[in-house]
Amino acid sequence: MFRLRPGYPWRVLEEVTATRYVTPLREGGSLPGVVEADDLGTYVVKFRGAGQGRRVLVAEIICAELARRLELRTPDLKVIDLDPRIGAREPDQEIQDLLQASEGRNLAVDFLPGALGFDPLAWTPDPGLASRVLWFDALVHNVDRSWRNPNLLVWHGNIWLIDHGAALWFHHNWPTADPQRRFDARDHVLAPFATRVKEADAELPALITEDLLRTVVDLVPGEWLDGEPGFADAAAVRQAYVDHLLARAHGPRAWLPEVPR
Ligand SMILES: Nc1ncnc2c1ncn2[C@@H]1O[C@H](COP(=O)(O)OP(=O)(O)OP(=O)(O)O)[C@@H](O)[C@H]1O
Ligand SMILES: [Mg+2]
Repeated sequence: MFRLRPGYPWRVLEEVTATRYVTPLREGGSLPGVVEADDLGTYVVKFRGAGQGRRVLVAEIICAELARRLELRTPDLKVIDLDPRIGAREPDQEIQDLLQASEGRNLAVDFLPGALGFDPLAWTPDPGLASRVLWFDALVHNVDRSWRNPNLLVWHGNIWLIDHGAALWFHHNWPTADPQRRFDARDHVLAPFATRVKEADAELPALITEDLLRTVVDLVPGEWLDGEPGFADAAAVRQAYVDHLLARAHGPRAWLPEVPR
C-alpha cells in the first residue's frame, strides 16, 4: 500500500537565479538548456519562450508534483529567474532568441548527473512500478512516454520520470476538455511490463484528493495562468485543473485503456 510521503510543507516552488548557461540539450525538441544557478545547483531549464509557451511549463509542474506525491520518482522543480545576458556568448542564434524570449521566470528541473535514458531492451522494470507509471500517464494524458521517446531516466538504479510538457493537452482547448477522454497506451514504453494496472487503479485514486490536487496546482506561478482565454483569473484556471483531474480520478473509467500484451 502506498502512503503519502510526509513533509511537503512548501506552498510555492523555491526560486533561484540563473548564473551560467552551460549547454543546450539538443535531443530535446524544445531546446532545454543545462544552466547553473546561484544556489550552486545545476538544472535543466525548460524555457517559457519555447514553441508551445507557458502551458507546457504548467503541465510540467502539475504532473511532476502529482507524480512525486504518488511516490513516483521525478527530479525536484524550482522556478529560475533568467537574465538573457548569461547566454551572450552562445554563438547559436536560435538559443539567443530563445533566451531573449524567456527573460524572467522559467522552470528549472534538477539535473541528474550521469542519468541514462531508459531502454526497454536493457532494463526490466518492476510490473508494479510500470503499472503505476502507465496509470499515471493515462490520468494526466501524457502522450510522451512512447518507446521512441520514453522520457524516463535511469539514475542510481531507479527509474525517474521527466518531461511532462505534452501532458494535460486538454488545456490547449479548454471548451472541449473531457475527463473521460480515452488514453491510448499502445505506444507506451512500459505497456509490455504493466501487468498490474488494475491494482494501480485500486490504490492510486484514494491518494488523489481535492486537497492534494489543490496543493499541486497552487505551485504553478500565477503569471503562467493569468489571461487564459475563457477564465476570469488565475484562480479560476486553477479550479478547472482541480475539477478535471478530480473527475478523471474518481469518475467512470472510460479513459483507462486495456493494456495490450
Ligand atoms: N533532469 C534531468 N537530468 C538529466 N538529463 C535530463 C534531465 N531532464 C532532461 N534531460 C535530458 O534532456 C533531454 C531533453 O529533455 P526533455 O525531454 O525534458 O526536453 P523536451 O524538449 O521536452 O523533449 P521532447 O523532445 O521529448 O519534447 C532528455 O531526453 C534527457 O536526455
Ligand atoms: Mg523529452
